[in-house]
Amino acid sequence: MREPFRNEPFTDFGVSDNIADFQAALAQVEAELGREYKLKIGADWIETTNKRKSLNPSQYTQMIGLVSQGDEEHAHKAILAAAAAFEGWKRVPAQARARVLYKAAALLRRRKHEFSAWLVYEAGKSWAEADGDTAEAIDFMEFYGREMERLSERQPLVPLAGEDNELVYLPLGVGIIIPPWNFPLAIMVGMTMAAVVAGNTVVLKPASPTAVIAAKFMELLEDAGLPAGVVNFLPGAGGEIGDFLVEHTLTRFVCFTGSREVGLRINEKAAATRPDQKWIKRVMAEMGGKDTIIVDEDADLDLAADAITASAFGYSGQKCSACSRAVVHEAVYDEVLGKVVERTLALRMGKAAEQSTYIGPVIDERAYIQILKYIEIGRSEATLVCGGNMGSSSGYYIEPTIFKDVGPYAVIAQEEIFGPVLAFIKAANFEAALDIANNTEYGLTGAVISRNRSRLEQAREQFHVGNLYFNRKCTGALVGVHPFGGFNMSGTDSKAGGRDYLLLFTQPKVVSERF
Ligand code: NAD
Ligand code: ALA
Repeated sequence: MREPFRNEPFTDFGVSDNIADFQAALAQVEAELGREYKLKIGADWIETTNKRKSLNPSQYTQMIGLVSQGDEEHAHKAILAAAAAFEGWKRVPAQARARVLYKAAALLRRRKHEFSAWLVYEAGKSWAEADGDTAEAIDFMEFYGREMERLSERQPLVPLAGEDNELVYLPLGVGIIIPPWNFPLAIMVGMTMAAVVAGNTVVLKPASPTAVIAAKFMELLEDAGLPAGVVNFLPGAGGEIGDFLVEHTLTRFVCFTGSREVGLRINEKAAATRPDQKWIKRVMAEMGGKDTIIVDEDADLDLAADAITASAFGYSGQKCSACSRAVVHEAVYDEVLGKVVERTLALRMGKAAEQSTYIGPVIDERAYIQILKYIEIGRSEATLVCGGNMGSSSGYYIEPTIFKDVGPYAVIAQEEIFGPVLAFIKAANFEAALDIANNTEYGLTGAVISRNRSRLEQAREQFHVGNLYFNRKCTGALVGVHPFGGFNMSGTDSKAGGRDYLLLFTQPKVVSERF
């Protein structure tokens, strides 16, 4: 019997050997910057004339890689390659499919710091954030491998005398995998390999700012022995090839994580039935968040300040789970604000490759401009307490920024900013705090910091989010421990890293034989 799933441990960067190993990985990756990356369709690596530069957000004059871009013709070929490979892959026993994931996890574990170093350079992640991203990618493969083995066992059905009844989980067919850039390894790997271990074949269209990390993972899949055509790699602009991929007749499902705007578009496009289409397309769409930490009047205020600061400014607030609203009981509002500001001012901003950096850059110029616009809106509708400025002009740096006395329906209290901007909102009592927490169209994560048992029970029932945390931060869900996904406009609540996830990539068939 296989050993039970355990989360991959995080690297302790207090240990000098680990620091030296990580620095060596950074040096190795730095020496590889600027190379070219191709599409992969079936067994072929394909270079195209249209190429996109992937840049280091910490220093945007530095090119991470030059990535060939696919067009609609490539997209069509990739879908055909996936459809052809499906005929063989769906017949591979579940245990053998799972073994490819275990092998890929072992290879990734062996090259853990190297992959994390790519995340530092291409996504602007601090050492700890990059290490967490790589650990989560390993976890997804170990977890989904075991899940598929569980689903391939004989499933319990109510016995009926004289009949043999069996339920088996069959794959769906060709899937389109569209991940975001903010967990460019973990989420990309999780979405892709969940589909694959369930017996599907896919076209992976990586997020453009982090396509090199995805290309590195494609190389690793080849080393792990994944047959050609099971994962086809199609970098390209979402706005140019996205609709084509989603609307294609052979597309059976779309697994998307990203913004509300793109997720809703995909959902609508996939719902339209083409004349020669044989199925209703399935869409998993995990989207944005506007996540709140409530601080109660009797809370441990240091714990509250630690939780808010880490949730708001880890990876510069570029997490769907990030705390962008602290809703604080008026009795402790000033004290909590003071503690969070003190901690925030101590965060070191700098290049992601430097070990002391906590706040790196935001991902690209588009995000940089958008976040600065929100800061201007914030100045007009609330009071700036700290931050609000750009950092060094060599990268996309924005200071961690806090606004106080933000109205519950202010723009910066309602719209996802996806950057290092935190709104402090005052609540007259706990009921009012819960009303504010539930007043956006999203419902992804939330946290309550309180010592009051009855209020925690009230929040357990009334705080309407997919992932609710008590007396801790609202980021950092662990695979298998905190299945992850949100309500309302945060998505279809597919619960990545949970026992229900693989069911989304399968169709159960029941065979009944009368004896
Ligand atoms: P995005 O929506 O801009 O892009 C996501 C992906 O969609 C990318 O691969 C992009 O190329 C592609 N895309 C763009 N236009 C497309 C189109 N018309 N058709 C098909 N694909 C298209 O999002 P992003 O900026 O990469 O990621 C940030 C967003 O992701 C935030 O809103 C964040 O909250 C969300 N997110 C959600 C979760 C979750 O689990 N709920 C996790 C991580 C990120
Ligand atoms: N799963 C990630 C987190 O929990 C987004 O922070």
